[in-house]
Amino acid sequence: SEVATRTFQVRDGETRRFDCTDGDTLLRAALRAGVPATYECNSGGCGSCKFTLSDGEVRQVQESPAGLTERDRRKGRLLACQSVPTSDCTVSLLVDPVDSGLPAPVRRRAEIVDARMLTHDLRELTISIGVDATFLPGQFAMLRRPDGEERAYSMSNLPGEGVWQIQIKRVPGGAESGAFVDDLGVGDRIEVDGPYGHAHFRPTGRDVVCIAGGSGLAPMVSVARGLAASDGAAERRLHFFYGGRAARDLCAGEFVAELAGELAEVTLVDVISDEVPPDWAGARGFVHEAVATAGLSDLADRDIYVAGPPPMTDAVVRLLVRELQVPVGQIHYDRFF
Ligand code: FES
Repeated sequence: SEVATRTFQVRDGETRRFDCTDGDTLLRAALRAGVPATYECNSGGCGSCKFTLSDGEVRQVQESPAGLTERDRRKGRLLACQSVPTSDCTVSLLVDPVDSGLPAPVRRRAEIVDARMLTHDLRELTISIGVDATFLPGQFAMLRRPDGEERAYSMSNLPGEGVWQIQIKRVPGGAESGAFVDDLGVGDRIEVDGPYGHAHFRPTGRDVVCIAGGSGLAPMVSVARGLAASDGAAERRLHFFYGGRAARDLCAGEFVAELAGELAEVTLVDVISDEVPPDWAGARGFVHEAVATAGLSDLADRDIYVAGPPPMTDAVVRLLVRELQVPVGQIHYDRFF
């Protein structure tokens, strides 16, 4: 840890001071201190954590993060999730008061206590993390590998169980991610930092639609479980869309089936985009196309949660807002880059 304690001033109308320790990024230090700084991916990809530095010095985690445009660079903007302070700093940081009161992220040592394959390339790990380690359904954590690299993974279970379950997908040709999938086993100790994320379940009394693609399954399973455990669940309807490239990717069935007894109605729509079997009677194409053709006439009266690769998430959100007139406040997503 190169920095013991640093003090920040945040200019968000109000000026606040907080400490940054253990080589934390500015974003993580702010969140740990209860300052609801705006962010989405925590990985340098989305650009929602931009800030300006008026005084002090920071070091960059990634040299050229995708979340910063040329214009941002010219204007001297930086990403809070990619900036590690190396001195006292004064920064102007955007905050989102709506999200104050979320559980503050904490870095913890954890142990893998169970592992199983969900599909040919999707693996579920159960991590023992201590009963007080809480999160909201739909949130994610950063897992640090032994070589120091971190990746974001969403929890698929419900809080309060003392364990966090995550799903790790092997990326085609991605040796590193593959190694991460293959190497971690029961008994291994890892570092987990979380929870993070805004696309958490909000009980509103409305019916819910979950739309997942690829590794977006985990947070949507958690949200669906959150719905099933919420007040009035027996009157709620759940529509769950899950898109994969081939039939062997589809594994939402076991999770969705487990909720059938708790909710008034549960519908699973599996969608295959690439290798569609000749006898496949279900939906084909991209997930947003399946949502468009599903004919849910009351979509604008439901809460909609979306998780998956950024192009899929963007396509779904565009469709919901522009064509299906779903109010923006009822759509919740975090994109992973
Ligand atoms: Fe920092 Fe996405 S770029 S939160």
